Amino acid sequence: MKKVQDFKVLEYNWLNEDNYVLTLIGEEEIPEIKAGNFAEIQVPDISDVFLRRPISVLDVDYEKKTLSFYIKAIGKGTRKLGQLSVGQKVNIIYPLGNHFSIHNEKKVLIIGGGSGIAPFVMLGRELKSKNIDVTFLMGGRTKNDIFLTDEFSKYGKVEVTTEDGSRGEKGMVTHHSLFKGDFDYNKVYTCGPDPMMKAVSKIAEAKGILCEASLENMMACGIGACLCCVTPTHDGNKIVCTEGPVFNTKELAW
Ligand SMILES: Cc1cc2nc3c(=O)[nH]c(=O)nc-3n(C[C@H](O)[C@H](O)[C@H](O)COP(=O)(O)OP(=O)(O)OC[C@H]3O[C@@H](n4cnc5c(N)ncnc54)[C@H](O)[C@@H]3O)c2cc1C
Ligand code: FES
Repeated sequence: MKKVQDFKVLEYNWLNEDNYVLTLIGEEEIPEIKAGNFAEIQVPDISDVFLRRPISVLDVDYEKKTLSFYIKAIGKGTRKLGQLSVGQKVNIIYPLGNHFSIHNEKKVLIIGGGSGIAPFVMLGRELKSKNIDVTFLMGGRTKNDIFLTDEFSKYGKVEVTTEDGSRGEKGMVTHHSLFKGDFDYNKVYTCGPDPMMKAVSKIAEAKGILCEASLENMMACGIGACLCCVTPTHDGNKIVCTEGPVFNTKELAW
């Protein structure tokens, strides 16, 4: 059930100068949220950021009525969301979009980069609760682009690649040594920059493994009304905010 609700800023946890976790607290019951769902957050106090910003839910605490978001400040909206006062009102529409699926997998690989790592805390927790073996593979340009690995390590093994070799293996995620040995994963989940997701999906498809990708297309309304987020698929254009953001990569015409 979608809600439009006022929350208040509870706290910030700054991971470095541009990356933070924003926790909001509300007074109403929070509807069920699944890994991959996102919220459209209205940016308060800024007249030239008219449109809400789509941000994945990082975590939820139904008892405390809190929602948290991992945010990478890249522009006006995401910067402003990092400058609010504790107690300030923030209006959000949530939970939006579909979510990652879990079936009878035994061993899965989760590959993330950039702001695309956010849905994977909830996904990792859900997979672990079903006794599914999880490996997280996180990529960045340098060690300063790698976040939340302590969180991920609660739910599975964590591997890292950096382009400059400052943390983990040197290179892109798709160069990681786990692709070279026995590759016995049943499913790959990915979210991050498009070129990364495309490369990951090619490998998964070549190995005959199901790959789900969460697209981060630019969005405006977030509820299927403006069509600005469509993506081409083999079955025509699909609306990412309502028919996605998670797609079986075999469907995508990218
Ligand atoms: C379903 C979904 C989930 C997302 N989850 C997260 C998340 O959990 N954490 C997070 O930090 N970000 C997330 N994003 C991306 C986030 O919505 C954008 O970074 C944000 O809207 C940018 O707003 P801004 O006002 O800061 O930047 P703007 O000032 O609007 O733009 C700054 C620059 O960023 C580019 N940009 C804007 N939106 C996007 C986008 N969607 N993808 C790539 N480049 C963009 C613009 O072209 C411009 O160059 C998600 C996006 C989608 C669609
Ligand atoms: S953002 Fe408006 S239709 Fe998807």
